[in-house]
Amino acid sequence: MPDLKTYFIRTYGCQMNELDTEIMAGQLQKRGLLPSLDEETADVLIFNTCSIRDLAERKVMGKLGQIGRAGKKNAIIGVTGCMAMAKRESLFRKFPHLDFVVGTNNITDLGTVLDEVLYTNRQVYKTDDRFEENLDYLLAKRDSKIKAHVSIIRGCDKFCTYCVVPYTRGSEVSRPAMSILEECKMLVDQGYKEITLLGQNVNSYGKDKPEWNCLFHDLLSKLDAIPGMERIRFMTSHPIDITLELMQAIRDLPSLCEFVHFPIQAGSSRILKKMHRIYTKEQYFEKVALLRQTVPNVSLGTDIIVGFPTETDAEFQETYDALKELRFSVAFLFAYSPRKGTPAMRWKDDIPEEVKQERLQKLIDLQTEIGNEERLQMLGQTVEVLVEGFNRDGGQLKGRTRCWKKALFPGDASLIGTLQQVKIHSYTHQTLIGETVESHNLLTVG
Ligand code: SAH
Ligand code: SF4
Ligand code: F3S
Repeated sequence: MPDLKTYFIRTYGCQMNELDTEIMAGQLQKRGLLPSLDEETADVLIFNTCSIRDLAERKVMGKLGQIGRAGKKNAIIGVTGCMAMAKRESLFRKFPHLDFVVGTNNITDLGTVLDEVLYTNRQVYKTDDRFEENLDYLLAKRDSKIKAHVSIIRGCDKFCTYCVVPYTRGSEVSRPAMSILEECKMLVDQGYKEITLLGQNVNSYGKDKPEWNCLFHDLLSKLDAIPGMERIRFMTSHPIDITLELMQAIRDLPSLCEFVHFPIQAGSSRILKKMHRIYTKEQYFEKVALLRQTVPNVSLGTDIIVGFPTETDAEFQETYDALKELRFSVAFLFAYSPRKGTPAMRWKDDIPEEVKQERLQKLIDLQTEIGNEERLQMLGQTVEVLVEGFNRDGGQLKGRTRCWKKALFPGDASLIGTLQQVKIHSYTHQTLIGETVESHNLLTVG
């Protein structure tokens, strides 16, 4: 049996995949494997994949094909993540050089699967539809010593008609509050300054376990009470589950950052209905108004899909107008990509690619304008920045404000991992630029 010494995991997709990679790394290191600096020399090579849009899948497929064509095979090669669930054992037919496929609900079986590959020399797959809560979160090997992702709920029950996630991650399973608290306490003790609570839909936390009597805002209060907890973030939120209690929690709990990412997806109620987003444009606008009234210094983030089947020019215009009116600080903008197995596949992907790209570009231009106006308004303000390290050219320190805005300022390495008050004097595309100021007697915003 070959001796496995090193591993390399290439991660695609969202934060949930990044966290799953850290958990898998923990399991592999527990087995005695060490991280390899590059994929060429690793004994175990894992592709932790994403299926959200066609491009995400094509990237991995291209890479797997390339490895197969290269011919030499001295590593055990596996596919994990959402594409493992979307394609399952069919991946073996396309890529005969693959050794294993492990789905999003079977991360904990990684070790057993590796053993099976080693003992039997056969292709092995494990792709359960349901997640059973038994992951070894405490062993996760995190890249950052400052910010950590913590999973609180896995899966999604919303079934938006365009989305693969309910099929690639299964139904919602909340993680027991005790286990989340234990992990968060450990992270705070280790010096972590910011914890991002992760789930496809964090604010439906606890709804699947009514007997726990612990909904998302209850969980947030418990986490905020951990001594030494500096910053808590969460993502993503489904608009329908944003409650007044949650808004009040953001207002009242000191560690909770004033930033909410809750995708609108489209500005037309007809399209929203066809997407099965279960809210109308008016209801979304009402949520935003209530949120801004409850938490006046809140910043909002959103996701939007253009070119959904049958979207007319007038309906796209409604999305454009919504983006203009709601003034999000962050907007992730996407062209619709039909996904196999989703209900939207029933409808013709009838918006031509050029029209999708044209609509996308209009939104990108508008959002760039909105972002610059927002940054312009922030000149002269003092913001709290969590310092994460040096920027790419090494000249300045970089970090994020509580509202998730990027900021740069001069300083030395001793400030990395600390919270600094930074007075903003200018900005470049996407980034605020400033200088540290004494922290007493200051009103902190942003
Ligand atoms: N759970 C999160 C989002 C997960 S996917 C939520 O519901 O808010 C991230 C984003 O990808 C979605 O918000 C959506 O805007 C986009 N997306 C999902 N499926 C897509 C598809 N088939 N085509 C284009 N964009 C898609
Ligand atoms: Fe996908 Fe909708 Fe679930 Fe988000 S809420 S993961 S978009 S099905
Ligand atoms: Fe992609 Fe799966 Fe995340 S499809 S976006 S990796 S949940």
